[in-house]
Amino acid sequence: MLITNPYPKFAKIKKQQMSGLLTSSIARKVVMALSGLFLVFFLGQHFVINITSVIAPDTFNSWSHFMGYNPLVQFVLQPILIAGVIVHFVMGITLEIQNNRARSVNYAKYKGSANASWVSRNMIITGLVVLAFLGLHMYDFWIHEMAYKYIEANPEDPTRYYAETVEKFEPLLRTVIYVASFALLALHLLHGFASSFQSMGVNNKYTPAITTFTKIYAIGIPLGFAFIAIYHHLNPITH
Ligand code: HEM
Repeated sequence: MLITNPYPKFAKIKKQQMSGLLTSSIARKVVMALSGLFLVFFLGQHFVINITSVIAPDTFNSWSHFMGYNPLVQFVLQPILIAGVIVHFVMGITLEIQNNRARSVNYAKYKGSANASWVSRNMIITGLVVLAFLGLHMYDFWIHEMAYKYIEANPEDPTRYYAETVEKFEPLLRTVIYVASFALLALHLLHGFASSFQSMGVNNKYTPAITTFTKIYAIGIPLGFAFIAIYHHLNPITH
């Protein structure tokens, strides 16, 4: 019986090239996973600080002031965070382009839904929504903060953060946009957080427990952020 090669294109790729291709794509996935885990960690600490704006406004003020004026946070951790966001975004786009190319070569008819969930096939969409949210969020808080400190050169005021944050959630539209973004963040994390361990080759007896933890975190943290936004919208500071 005559056996024909079903992938004639691949026949032209030398073995060495194949392994190079593989390692670079695996390396990209690992970088994606590590930067994602770093951002997940940031999200957890960001949530802990922000939930104090609901339960203990004075603590929120003093923690925000510390974060805003501590040189280690401002000049070391903040640039690392920005670099983490950029790496995750650039790698995500690269992987998406790579996957699309691979799909069009490998499958005449790609039936995505046959082997993957909507969330896992649309990480790029949920990721871009989270990125757009970050743009709005930086405009709302971070740019204002940079202008306050470094452009207007206002004096330090450790008591201002609580009122400034609550004020942001006065408009219904902003609150709705934030809550909708948190829903997409949850979808992004639902697949991303769990699969980051897979990308790093973690597969042992703890895997089921890790997966359960990632799912609880993926839903719980965005839900908590939504609670903060809605709470402040419903409890404005009366002047
Ligand atoms: C109700 C929910 C949230 C509130 C009230 C909130 C509040 C804040 C505040 C007050 C700052 C300014 C910190 C500073 O002084 O520099 C900030 C910065 C930031 N937030 Fe949020 N945030 C929320 C949700 C989120 C979410 C879901 C994300 C990510 C997807 C996020 C990502 C960031 C980032 C990256 C920064 C810049 C951090 C820095 O460099 O200082 N935030 N947020």
